[in-house]
Amino acid sequence: MLHSARMGDSLDSHYAAGGIAAGIVAALRAEKGADSAITPEALAPLDHFHNRGVVATRELMALLAPGPGDHVLDIGCGIGGPARWIAAMSGCRVTGIDLMPAFCAAARELVAATGLADRVQIVEGSALALPFTGGSFDRAYSQNVEMNVADKPAMYREAFRVLKPGGVLALSNLTAGPAGPPHFPVPWAGDASQSFLAAPGELRQNLLAAGFEILSLVDATAHVRDTLSAMRAKMAAKGRPALFTHVWMGERMWLYQDNVFRSLDEGRLGVVEALARRPD
Ligand SMILES: C[S@@+](CC[C@H](N)C(=O)[O-])C[C@H]1O[C@@H](n2cnc3c(N)ncnc32)[C@H](O)[C@@H]1O
Repeated sequence: MLHSARMGDSLDSHYAAGGIAAGIVAALRAEKGADSAITPEALAPLDHFHNRGVVATRELMALLAPGPGDHVLDIGCGIGGPARWIAAMSGCRVTGIDLMPAFCAAARELVAATGLADRVQIVEGSALALPFTGGSFDRAYSQNVEMNVADKPAMYREAFRVLKPGGVLALSNLTAGPAGPPHFPVPWAGDASQSFLAAPGELRQNLLAAGFEILSLVDATAHVRDTLSAMRAKMAAKGRPALFTHVWMGERMWLYQDNVFRSLDEGRLGVVEALARRPD
C-alpha cells in the first residue's frame, strides 16, 4: 500500500484536477445546446482518455466480448468513459477502479448524469491491491494504464486473483519502442519519472507468471499509428475539435497528443493488445 500511495502522490502532479464533470457537461452543452442529453455517445469525444478515443474502446470491447449477464472490472478507469460505454453497449455491469480521487469523483458524477448508476460503480483504489474478494468478476480490462505502473507483475497477479476461473482479461497498452524513450510530456506522464513502459515481450512474461493463459497477443503499433495519422490529417484539415479531452486536462493535451504521434512515428512507442484467460 505504501508503494501505491507514493505512486498516487507522484501521479497527482500530472493528473489531478477538480470540477472535471461540470466542465465536461458545460462544454458539451455549449457546443450541442443547453438541452442536449448527457449520454455515453455524446460524452465519447471527451471521456475516453487514451489514443484514438472511443475507436480504441470499441476495439477493446470487441476483444473482451462482454455479455449482458457479466460483471466486468475496468482497472484504471480514469473518468469512466470506457466503463459507461461498455455497460451501455453490452448491457453488462461494470466496476471501475482508479487511483485518482478527482477522476473517481468525475466518473461518479458522469455515471449519475448518464443514468447508468444501477450498472456502473466506481471505486477509488489501486490496481496493485484490488479491494475485491477473489473470483468476483467474469471479465476484466485495462486500457492505457500499465504505463503508470512500475510493479506490473503485481498488477496482473491482482487481475488474475479477482477473475473467476475461465474469466478473461483484455488489455491495450503502450510499450517502449526500439528507438529510445518517447518525447515527454505524454498523456500518462509529465516526465520519465512517471512513465514505466514495458519492453517487448514483458507483457507475455507477466501474464504467464500471474497464471494466465494467453489467447491472443498482438503488436498493434502499425494499426494504431495509421489510424492516428488519419485522425491527425483530419484535424489538420478541419482544425482542432471543440470537444476533446483538453476540456478537462487543459490545453497541455495538444502537446501530449503531438508527442505521442511523433514518438510512434519515430519508433519510440509501440502498442500491444492482449486477451488472457484465467484457466478453469
Ligand atoms: C491514461 S489514463 C487511462 C484511463 C482509462 N483507462 C481510459 O482509457 O479512459 C491512466 C489511468 O490509470 C490510472 N492509474 C494509474 N496507476 C494506477 C493504479 N496503480 N491503480 C489504479 N489506477 C491507476 C490513472 O489514475 C489514470 O486514470
